[in-house]
Amino acid sequence: MNLYDRIPNNVNLSEDKRLQRALEKWLPNFLAWWHDMGPEGFQEKDVWLRTAVDVGSEGWAHFEYVKMPEYRWGIFLEPAQPNAKVGFGDNYGAPAYQEVPGEFRNALRRIIVTQGDTEPASVEQQRQLGHTCPSLYDLRNLFQVNVEEGRHLWAMVYLLQGYFGRDGRDEADALLERRSGNPDKPRILEAFNQPCDDWLNFYAFTMFTDRDGKFQLSALAESGFEPLARTCKFMLTEEAHHMFVGDTGLTRVVKRTAQLMKQNPNEDVRALGGIPLDIIQKYINFWFSYSLDLFGGEISSNSADFFAAGLKGRFKEQEQYTDHVAAEGSFTMMVVEDGKLEPREVPLRNALNEILRGEYVKDCEKGLARWNKALADEGINQRLYLPNVRFHRHVGEYAGHYFDLEGNLISKEEFGQKKNEWLPTMEDREYVASLMKPVTEPGKIANWIAPPAAGIKGKPFEFEYVRL
Ligand SMILES: [Fe+2]
Ligand SMILES: [Fe+2]
Repeated sequence: MNLYDRIPNNVNLSEDKRLQRALEKWLPNFLAWWHDMGPEGFQEKDVWLRTAVDVGSEGWAHFEYVKMPEYRWGIFLEPAQPNAKVGFGDNYGAPAYQEVPGEFRNALRRIIVTQGDTEPASVEQQRQLGHTCPSLYDLRNLFQVNVEEGRHLWAMVYLLQGYFGRDGRDEADALLERRSGNPDKPRILEAFNQPCDDWLNFYAFTMFTDRDGKFQLSALAESGFEPLARTCKFMLTEEAHHMFVGDTGLTRVVKRTAQLMKQNPNEDVRALGGIPLDIIQKYINFWFSYSLDLFGGEISSNSADFFAAGLKGRFKEQEQYTDHVAAEGSFTMMVVEDGKLEPREVPLRNALNEILRGEYVKDCEKGLARWNKALADEGINQRLYLPNVRFHRHVGEYAGHYFDLEGNLISKEEFGQKKNEWLPTMEDREYVASLMKPVTEPGKIANWIAPPAAGIKGKPFEFEYVRL
């Protein structure tokens, strides 16, 4: 473990001079990007952050006050397994790849670049949120997510520079050049070009969009390309916190809304400065549908090639499946044919994006159950739900068609008429934005959200998580 190197790492960086030079050259560019595009207005503040310092089971992180630009972004991989094997596909059981298999070089680079691009993108999307934090606890969580997305970028850049030579170095530079939402040099995936400018967006984003990350990383953590698998396994440890922030953040918003509904004779939450359930539902519809797009097309020859090559597996490939070759079998899904929804059977390997998406939906439903429990606990009868997976899609079989929340095919006109009931309107966004007033006194919380059930790492909610 080289913790006190300029770039903390457990990959023996000091013994690989070429890679070390490449990363040290990239480091000042990364810091320049962080200063330009990282959280605005808080760079000089002390934030009580966790920093990854080890990958061992007894405590992989430690907590202390850090100024974000001094955060120790490092490169940490899960330890190598002796005799690691390719765990699925046509080369099932062969020794794991320690180098990039030549024929898949471009495709693998694309996967790593696409994953890597999401990391700085989300930091850019969230850079103004600090100014309107509902509490110091939430402010700290925002910054924790931001610095870890920065570290995830490092993780992907390590792979690019370590395994893809000159092309990899060029891609590493380009990751710092694209900008979320910029029409001339946008981020690669659309969910990462959407504004995330209020805290309801932030919680929905970390709930739904970071959760896509969990499933992509889980599929790559199965990879037969061992450096990628080991990198992603460690990223998943950090990712769990991001989803926690979103999931519990939404629970707290829903709980507060329910409390305010009971306080007003007409259940009019607006009159009391809360966020109405119908607006929360629209934000769910928006971020869930954009996040579904991140899994790619329902029927995909890329997914089949990647599985065949042993590069991208299924969710919990080793635990959940016995047939790791999956050369036979099929999967039936609904597709649009001649203006109607029809079932189509496709070879299993071509349906792996859709299968991964299905795992993701199951995981999202658990969040919905928690939010609905919060409503039930407060004695409110209304419930939140996930829209059908066909609703409001921009990628895959359903893109270019229109569906209602139940997944029924409808006309473009009908969609246009209903859109304002289903997705956040300008007025909804303006109303939510009007509630976003910063609360920065330790122990205080904004009116539209309930305090968390507990603080962080044994500290109370009142703890001064950020010294302003
Ligand atoms: Fe990430
Ligand atoms: Fe994340």
